Amino acid sequence: MRPPVSQAAAPGKVILFGEHAVVFGEPAIAVAIDLETKVDLIPDETLTQHQVNGEPLDTYKHLFIEKAINLLWDNAGNTTRLNVQTNSRLPSAAGLGSSAALSTSTCAALLHQTEQFSETRLARAAYETEWIGQGEQGSPIDTSASTHGQAIFVDKEEHDNHLWTLRRSDSTWHVHHQPLERMSFVIAHSGEKGKTGELVSKVQMYHDRTDVAQKIIEDIGDTTREGQEALRRGNLARVGELMDEAHELLGMLGVSTSRLDELCRTAREHAHGAKLTGAGGGGCIIALTDEPDACREALQDERAETWIVRSARKGARAWGHRGTRTVNERH
Ligand code: PMV
Repeated sequence: MRPPVSQAAAPGKVILFGEHAVVFGEPAIAVAIDLETKVDLIPDETLTQHQVNGEPLDTYKHLFIEKAINLLWDNAGNTTRLNVQTNSRLPSAAGLGSSAALSTSTCAALLHQTEQFSETRLARAAYETEWIGQGEQGSPIDTSASTHGQAIFVDKEEHDNHLWTLRRSDSTWHVHHQPLERMSFVIAHSGEKGKTGELVSKVQMYHDRTDVAQKIIEDIGDTTREGQEALRRGNLARVGELMDEAHELLGMLGVSTSRLDELCRTAREHAHGAKLTGAGGGGCIIALTDEPDACREALQDERAETWIVRSARKGARAWGHRGTRTVNERH
């Protein structure tokens, strides 16, 4: 008999518009990218503890995997221990959704293993995992992009192309498929790490204490709405201008750094626009460009680690002894 292996893969993402503001109900657009995390998972009767990459599961090192296993395996009454192997092309703490891709691919493998795989179940489980792992805060944008692939639009109102709705206390996020031509981005890493949980808390505090932060967050929402309209018209020059504006606003929120600003300035010489992506405080910038090689070279001259990525067609998927299930069947 073949071992009951479940395998899964899920993409990382860039946030084109709306990071941080999405936590407060403003709209946001995220694009899945072709850098993925893969997970293999095998129940093993001989193990006394769950194993990750050949060592016992450790809360500090394997937080998101532990939360996913608790949620979908241990709490469902399964007592067999799991052997988990992970493999990721995504740098961590870089704004590229590495923890979301890990949460999503682990949940996909677990749902496949327990024969409960569906797109909406995965979106819910991956968000629950990520939410707990990030200190019970944050929006479902990263895990939804990783689940669905392609691109998503998140808003507090429901529109056409609705995929699923997720709620946390008094916040509601409707997640939609965002139609998008296949795009290339140049990504450059600042060399600094940005901790999503800490940055989300910092913005929350700023938001709760000042009207200025609330106004900036509303302005970010406006750039997202205008960005969506520019995407619909295929006007990449306007999308780029709005990315520049979004970066300025994120700087005013206190989540940019001088290094991120400098990398954006360099990228813009060869790009429609550039901005930080994700939580900020370090991590990466993205540049939307028709000249990816020139843009990349300029950023490499600034000693930045760089990638040229394309928007991903595929979202999370799982396969193994029970056959392949693909998530994003609807679009
Ligand atoms: O830093 P990342 O890639 O995890 O992006 C987080 C996006 C935020 O809007 C800053 C937080 C959230 O949960 O939406």
